[in-house]
Amino acid sequence: MNILLTGGMGYIGSHIALSLLHDKHKVTILDNLSNSNIEVLNSLKFISSEEPNFIKGDVINTELVAKLLKDYKVDAVIHLAGLKAVGESVSRPVMYYKNNILGAVSLLEAMKSCNVLNLVFSSSATVYGIPNFLPISEEHPCKPNNPYGRSKFYIEEILSDLVITDKNWNIISLRYFNPVGSHESGLIGDHPNGIPNNLMPFINQVASGQQTHLKVFGNDYDTPDGTGVRDYIHVEDLSNAHLAALNNIDSNNNYQNYPLNFFNIGTGKGYSVLDVVHAFELANRLDIPYKIYPRRDGDIASSFADPKKANNFLGWKAKQSIDEMCLSSWNFQKNKSQ
Ligand code: NAD
Ligand code: UFG
Repeated sequence: MNILLTGGMGYIGSHIALSLLHDKHKVTILDNLSNSNIEVLNSLKFISSEEPNFIKGDVINTELVAKLLKDYKVDAVIHLAGLKAVGESVSRPVMYYKNNILGAVSLLEAMKSCNVLNLVFSSSATVYGIPNFLPISEEHPCKPNNPYGRSKFYIEEILSDLVITDKNWNIISLRYFNPVGSHESGLIGDHPNGIPNNLMPFINQVASGQQTHLKVFGNDYDTPDGTGVRDYIHVEDLSNAHLAALNNIDSNNNYQNYPLNFFNIGTGKGYSVLDVVHAFELANRLDIPYKIYPRRDGDIASSFADPKKANNFLGWKAKQSIDEMCLSSWNFQKNKSQ
């Protein structure tokens, strides 16, 4: 298939690009490089020996998107372009709503005008908000508690409206849990600007000596060791979920009576912050010093997926262990630090 991959230069998008190229899809990346670097393109070419098309541009530019859909005879779009930092979304909500929601609307408008009606959308477990029950199944109500999460939720609502009014659309929304790890080459990975917000990139920086210790945000949660529990998923497993979604894009199943097809993408297992620290230490034979700090605003105690719907309907299952996530994560960081 000819795929337009928006946000394809970013952490998750670059891994999806490799999975697509590996499966002999033709890939066109649209990215404004607001949170990524052009060097990623060289890594993609080096690893895959293939040349994805790359266009530097903004998904909010409807005319540009329409031109790309026509020029590259696109069959399906995977839409990742978006802003993703929860804390920043609280301080700059309009920027998040504009970039994420207007970006999605612009893309949908362009797709409709070109009659390209196959879409895989990158959503997030954040749409659920504070869990009422665990593991979180797709039936869990959506009550996102920050502007980033709400931007994803509103986009899903728009997508639902679209599939209700026009049955020709084929749309799958994937709700990612906590993506971590890197491609086995160690050449692409998660490299946030400045001090990382997320756990694994921060642990990487402690391991490489850029930070003296990990700040563990709270050890008084109602969890087995008191630290926050999450469903970490290897980014390569996450990439493969997109291939599975593409394979099922036109099956037109109205799963579980919702207008939109949405799926949890997680392993179903929860690991605490200290579990991850210990797994990282064991896998990489390194010490990760840590200190306990107060809880971080907006954090929840536990979040992990019930991934059965994706397992059953997409025929997809996460395979990689927490050890593999820690090994590949550090492998990327080591290469970057050299
Ligand atoms: P990322 O920031 O590494 O990648 C996003 C890419 O989109 C970047 O390359 C950025 O330059 C580009 N971009 C942003 N706005 C754009 C615009 N208007 N036009 C064109 N390009 C634009 O983030 P990521 O971690 O790879 O996340 C990818 C997607 O997955 C995002 O939509 C994010 O919300 C979603 N997601 C991420 C996580 C996570 O923990 N990383 C979890 C759930 C969902
Ligand atoms: N944590 C620390 N110290 C750190 C960073 C994180 O103790 O320096 C803890 C957090 O308190 C939490 C756990 O590690 O208990 C995971 O935190 P992350 O910031 O890595 O991930 P979150 O679950 O908070 O959020 C992530 C993404 C969101 C996404 C969500 C669900 O940042 O964008 O997963 O997919 F929406």
